Amino acid sequence: MHAKVLGTGMYVPANKVDNHRLSKVMDTSDEWIQQRTGIVTRHFADLDQASSDLAVPAAEMALEDAGVDRKDIDYVIFATMTPDFYFPGSGSLFQHKLGLGRVPCLDIRQQCAGFLYGMQLADALIASGQRKNLLLVGAEVHGGFMPWSWDVVFGTSDNKVGEEEFERNTRFRDRTVLFGDGAGAFVISKSDESDRGLLDVAVHTDGAFSDKMWVNAGGSARKPYFDPEMHDNGDIVPIVEGREVFKAAVTLMPEAAESILKKNGLTLDDLDLLIMHQANLRINEAVQKRLGLPDDKVYNNIQRYGNTTAATLPMAFHEARTARDLKPGSLVCFVAVGSGLNWGAALYRC
Ligand code: ACO
Repeated sequence: MHAKVLGTGMYVPANKVDNHRLSKVMDTSDEWIQQRTGIVTRHFADLDQASSDLAVPAAEMALEDAGVDRKDIDYVIFATMTPDFYFPGSGSLFQHKLGLGRVPCLDIRQQCAGFLYGMQLADALIASGQRKNLLLVGAEVHGGFMPWSWDVVFGTSDNKVGEEEFERNTRFRDRTVLFGDGAGAFVISKSDESDRGLLDVAVHTDGAFSDKMWVNAGGSARKPYFDPEMHDNGDIVPIVEGREVFKAAVTLMPEAAESILKKNGLTLDDLDLLIMHQANLRINEAVQKRLGLPDDKVYNNIQRYGNTTAATLPMAFHEARTARDLKPGSLVCFVAVGSGLNWGAALYRC
């Protein structure tokens, strides 16, 4: 018995920020960002919106698409690296906001590979007959990492920031231009056909690379979790060794795709669509080239949303379902690499 995606949904907050706007708070340019990353715009949550807030409209859309009533949802898996609070996890807050009743909610934090890990769990719960309809959500609000003045970024003030802030923001420009906020959701249920649905999920972790992407604040390794000094010296901003991550992504994503296809007796020729994590368009172009896939077998939306971490795979699949005219029987492969290092692939037959 396989699990099947019965409905999909997504949501991005209203504040759309282009690269020119970011160049008002730090030394960057539309040209640099587009050339190196492909990103043109991203959306940022309002200052009072958290990850669980973005997840609600995405889940409502997925429920409507699936034709499933919220009272029939019997489990929630919530993937995020930017939870609303230190605890409890965003899953329980989301459950309450959506009015789901007392269904169990599991929070997972595998960063950009979080949704893949969620797909594996969802499949296990459905295939074992333990659950009938579950909501798998990926949602992120990265704003708490950003060191800048929001009024300038949101365009409510057109002034440039002061020289000191401009210099400080510039220190982090290689990372802060990459991220955007958003949420994506799947309603997952049992597939009636044995050859359709989630065919396989393979995930991996290598903690030896945990220092390539991480945040040196907010956890029990430091006491207190946060202090003003951490804010002042920028420890709240993720540390990303960009070139190392780039190399890992262009190696591990194709490997993961090829390996899961081979394990299931399939080849790249059988594939109709590759949905990759969206960390950098140049990474995805390199992966596409390495796999020899034509443009119509790949879907990218990083140009409009930036890297939305755990929300990326469901948002991309939601959009690709219509953009790529997926038919029953179409074979989709999901691949992602994220902080941890966590990575993997999933195979899905529509
Ligand atoms: N604007 C203008 N110039 C910049 C910017 C910017 N935003 N960022 C860096 N630069 C400058 C650098 O200072 C450097 O200048 P110099 O040559 O004078 O020293 C120059 O551009 C080149 O910098 P690099 O860091 O070498 O640029 P690179 O081409 O490697 O691109 C990038 C950096 C975009 C970060 C790339 O390495 C990348 O995408 N890596 C992957 C990152 C990633 O995957 N992050 C997501 C994971 S996060 C998660 O999973 C939680």
